[in-house]
Amino acid sequence: MKRSAVYPGSFDPITNGHIYITERAAAIFDEVKVSVLVNLQKKSTFSVEERCAMAREALSHLPNVTVDYFEGLLVDYVRQTRSRVIIRGLRAMSDFEYEFQMALMNRQLAPEIETFFIVTDPKYSYISSSSVREIFQFGGTVQDVVPPVVFQRLRERFPARLAQQ
Ligand code: PNS
Repeated sequence: MKRSAVYPGSFDPITNGHIYITERAAAIFDEVKVSVLVNLQKKSTFSVEERCAMAREALSHLPNVTVDYFEGLLVDYVRQTRSRVIIRGLRAMSDFEYEFQMALMNRQLAPEIETFFIVTDPKYSYISSSSVREIFQFGGTVQDVVPPVVFQRLRERFPARLAQQ
């Protein structure tokens, strides 16, 4: 049986930190399903289709990684995919409290599903999708922390910044 894992997130947009976590997971599991949340309450900068397309391109070097989206409860989706593992990345202790609570909540909902935490490389510890969006919009450089496809999409989404980047 294939050992498969789901790596869920908003990925709005995918960053080099997410790519690093996916690479580490792909080295351990037979297949990794990067799963983009369709969040109807929270307004995202990129549509779910855009987020999936960017993730697909950024992860195309990993043959055992697929990208899809999900709606509703994560554990329901994980069950549908017949996986039993949720991957989450940890950047700092400050992530831990939220992640720990989420892992316990998911265990309460689906005791057979395990959350695996992968610690990031220190060089990615300060990167988040929200800071990438904000820095880009205010004219800062994000080229070093996102894959080329995301940089290109940011330039298209916020053309006022074209002159500065
Ligand atoms: O990248 P993010 O925004 O930190 O990812 C959060 C995510 C998508 C993993 C989380 O919000 C989630 O699983 N949402 C789906 C709804 C759900 O299952 N909620 C209960 C989790 S406690």
